[in-house]
Amino acid sequence: MERFSDALATGPTHPDYTLLVTGDRGTGKTALLNVLEDQAADQNWMVITAAASAESVSARVASEARRCIEQMRKGRRGTRVSSVSMMGVGVSLEPDLRGSEGAPSLLAVLEELGDLLADRGSGVLLTVDELHDVDRDDVRNVASAVQIVTRRRQRPVAFAAAALPLIEDTHLADPNMTFLQRCARARLGLLEADETRRALQQPIIDRGSVIKDDALAEAAALTLGYPYMIQLVGFHAWQMREDPSAPISLINVRAGAVVAESAMVDQIAGPTWNRLSPMDRRFLFAMLKDEPDSSLADIAERLERNLQYARTYRRRLIAAGAISSSSKGRVRFRHHALRVRAETAVREE
Ligand SMILES: Nc1ncnc2c1ncn2[C@@H]1O[C@H](COP(=O)(O)OP(=O)(O)OP(=O)(O)O)[C@@H](O)[C@H]1O
Ligand SMILES: [Mg+2]
Repeated sequence: MERFSDALATGPTHPDYTLLVTGDRGTGKTALLNVLEDQAADQNWMVITAAASAESVSARVASEARRCIEQMRKGRRGTRVSSVSMMGVGVSLEPDLRGSEGAPSLLAVLEELGDLLADRGSGVLLTVDELHDVDRDDVRNVASAVQIVTRRRQRPVAFAAAALPLIEDTHLADPNMTFLQRCARARLGLLEADETRRALQQPIIDRGSVIKDDALAEAAALTLGYPYMIQLVGFHAWQMREDPSAPISLINVRAGAVVAESAMVDQIAGPTWNRLSPMDRRFLFAMLKDEPDSSLADIAERLERNLQYARTYRRRLIAAGAISSSSKGRVRFRHHALRVRAETAVREE
């Protein structure tokens, strides 16, 4: 947040003016993009938001940029002009803004908008969520327009995108994606132990309640510093109290954690699991026998494949956010919820 507000204040020469946020599911990428949008709006900037969905990002940005231009011509400024919710519900566009010969090029519209905003000492922030799911040609279109307007012509068009780490192996590995490769990076991950305790305790204190020390210690340990889990455990422990004025106890935390864990399985492990191939899943099944981690050699043996083969799948699964390397030649589930999801799948087979 600090880096970005500094970038907005400095201008297009600042390295963080074009930013790529990466992190596993539920680490707070969308939450962070929303804060960056608020920061820009507070500076009276325009904000155009887009996400992977049926409509192309280029088409959406072009039409929204046209809308910004129209707004400025009408003398209204500094408002958030659009948003695409996480459910993918778009804002309907006014028909008169669509040219009859189809939309003008994204580059032309962004250049015009950039010029207008530069004259007024303002700017526009372009955010793209779920960038890993945006079609490659579409990413290239947006990237090349921003490359020219922001980097070459130094217009106030800032760019912030969010993606799962698997983008390293897809869009970022594409030699034609130099714009993305040169975006500054913000990697979101697990919170430290003291940050985790603060994230759990502060909202409780802010709402005029307390959590007992042993309950806080257990809640923090249960979450493993995973931001989405922190939110779930905190919420459900709070809800578990029969007397809302009582302090949150160890019993409340344990009961809340059960509900939180099952939400993690559905909401975090589910989407990860659904993207995996049958062989990816067989690799995970082969890990279930071991706790807390597995040796790659054992997995290869169980799969009846060689070590080289197992290494290829290890790389794929790390990129997919399913596993991580625990030590040399050993892997573990990235989070407990995915192990639970894999166990369920084994039972269903
Ligand atoms: N720093 C934070 N402060 C408060 N809440 C947060 C923070 N980070 C994440 N959260 C909460 O955790 C949940 C997950 O965050 P978010 O949706 O931003 O994750 P994400 O990285 O975009 O996940 P996905 O890859 O699945 O889209 C949200 O409900 C969000 O409110
Ligand atoms: Mg998100």
